[in-house]
Amino acid sequence: MSKIKRIGVLTGGGDCPGLNAVLRAVVKAATQEHGLEVIGIEDGFGGLIEGRLRRLTVQDVSGILPRGGTILGTTNRDNPFKYPVILENGQRVYKDKSAEIMDTLSGQGIEALVIIGGDGSLSIAREFHEQGLPVVGIPKTIDNDLSATDATFGFDTALVTATEALDKLHTTAESHHRVMILEVMGRYAGWIALEAGIAGGADVILIPEIPFDYAKICAKVVKRREQGKRFSIVVVAEGAKPLGGEMVVQQVIADSADPIRLGGIGNVVGKQLEACTGMETRVTVLGHLQRGGSPTPFDRILGTRYGVKAVELVAKGEFGKMVSLRTPDIVAVALEEAVGVLRTVPLDSDLIRAAKSVGIGFGD
Ligand code: F6P
Repeated sequence: MSKIKRIGVLTGGGDCPGLNAVLRAVVKAATQEHGLEVIGIEDGFGGLIEGRLRRLTVQDVSGILPRGGTILGTTNRDNPFKYPVILENGQRVYKDKSAEIMDTLSGQGIEALVIIGGDGSLSIAREFHEQGLPVVGIPKTIDNDLSATDATFGFDTALVTATEALDKLHTTAESHHRVMILEVMGRYAGWIALEAGIAGGADVILIPEIPFDYAKICAKVVKRREQGKRFSIVVVAEGAKPLGGEMVVQQVIADSADPIRLGGIGNVVGKQLEACTGMETRVTVLGHLQRGGSPTPFDRILGTRYGVKAVELVAKGEFGKMVSLRTPDIVAVALEEAVGVLRTVPLDSDLIRAAKSVGIGFGD
């Protein structure tokens, strides 16, 4: 039995399918197996700063396994080490709220924190750990871009959504003899585009790791038409960029832990392709549909395993760690190893080789 009696749990950063599966596993394992009380923190670090906490019982997490989103709420804006405060004169200043948070936690008798998040939230987790707070991290993101784990939950569900979108675009593209472009998320990594593109039979996949040449994409679409294929399917990762060009940034958000909002490359590519091929080209931006919906069995299982392992680490007093999938095992890695280095698609990836072998173009 653990010496710790009460733990806190929060979900930070963008949501993704599987968060509720993790919360359910944390609460069930903590209360039923280790005799720990669990306090849920609402809306990520923002809720922690504002003291919005509530007890989570087994009843509270009953029935949430298949639900998307997070019952706790989340935000990708609040960084407690650089929290924006507006003074009476209207001036915006940044305050370090970490000491207040430490006081809130000890006032509530919370002795350890389980932080479920992506690179941004796990970096904050690491800073808290360095300040002496016992923390354990759990990796989540649809982008699958954390280097210290084979997989983050949420990615598989996003992949299914993107693949289904491609299947649907295929039939209408074929009927109307159009070029269909699907823009998907993924930030600076091309995993969603690459894997959905292979699974959905795309003709061209554009990812941030391989800057593309418009002339090559055009040539590919035109060649298909000459071969009797009067439609083409192009998947574009939101972070893809042309050779010598830049990523398309939709918005820069002040005070956000994740200030660069990508998006818009699909329309840019669409205009260029329509001009150079003369074929009607339509663009679909899949957007937040990729973050919603019921998690796939893979994400439910991975989320459950992560939640159970995180509580086991808390019970053993192993802090400053992140749970990680090192297939087939769930292991613990140091938080400093887990953050800061993004896992992008390696150029020598077997996935790229296989895609090229079945005729998919990358515009390179
Ligand atoms: O990191 C997950 C993610 O969905 C990225 O793929 C995307 O760029 C970003 O979050 C979108 O964030 P927001 O929900 O703030 O628009």
